[in-house]
Amino acid sequence: MVITLDGPAGSGKSTVAKVIAKKLSLNQIDSGAMYRSYTHLCLSFAKEQKMKIKDVIDSKNFKDYLAKQKLVIEFHSGRQIIHLNGKDMEQFIRQPEITENIKFVADARFVREMVNEQIGVLAKDYSIIADGRDMGTVVFPNADFKFFLTASLEVRASRRLEEFKRINPEFTIDQVMREIEKRDHDDENREFGQLKPAQNAIFVDTTNLDLNGVVNVIINIIQNKR
Ligand code: CDP
Repeated sequence: MVITLDGPAGSGKSTVAKVIAKKLSLNQIDSGAMYRSYTHLCLSFAKEQKMKIKDVIDSKNFKDYLAKQKLVIEFHSGRQIIHLNGKDMEQFIRQPEITENIKFVADARFVREMVNEQIGVLAKDYSIIADGRDMGTVVFPNADFKFFLTASLEVRASRRLEEFKRINPEFTIDQVMREIEKRDHDDENREFGQLKPAQNAIFVDTTNLDLNGVVNVIINIIQNKR
């Protein structure tokens, strides 16, 4: 079984996917964490070369560097774990510096192809719930269930503010709204794998729903159709 959950930043995809994965005994693929991990790699390489990320992303040197890195994706009790050369990536990939630079990496066609191939390999062996921007449109056009999560900008920003404040208590709601608006624009306008609902996606507006509310809506739809 394949379920896809796409939608903009702060719509709740990853949190919802985690709970549904547990309830339905699926494995969760967090494609955003993969793009974040490749962004971490690209930033490290750019710093090493004393160059800007946008100037190294398409270079042969970066592709050679990537080929030498061991980025391994595994599931532990349904949760996706990304290891880079044996190190768990989670501690590195939620930093604002990663989010600020992700556009350059997520726009690169060869990175998208690599991520999609890795996801395809994982999906061969497991039942999954995959969240991201293009899971229902590009990666799993034949998914059993496709959902597109939305929420107002204000609600998405207020959800994110809580997370941002754990990193820096000075963050304001206006800063988070601007960051999300910019990322929405980047995600909707990239050439490959842009953020858009699949034609047969089911829309779930999470503006006035809490986590349990969203999970219940999705699980009811799945169970009624099965
Ligand atoms: O911050 P949020 O949880 O919304 O994002 P994420 O799922 O961690 O993904 C981070 C960024 O990776 C997104 O803003 C997209 O630019 C990019 N991404 C993508 O291009 N395609 C995907 N399938 C997933 C993420």
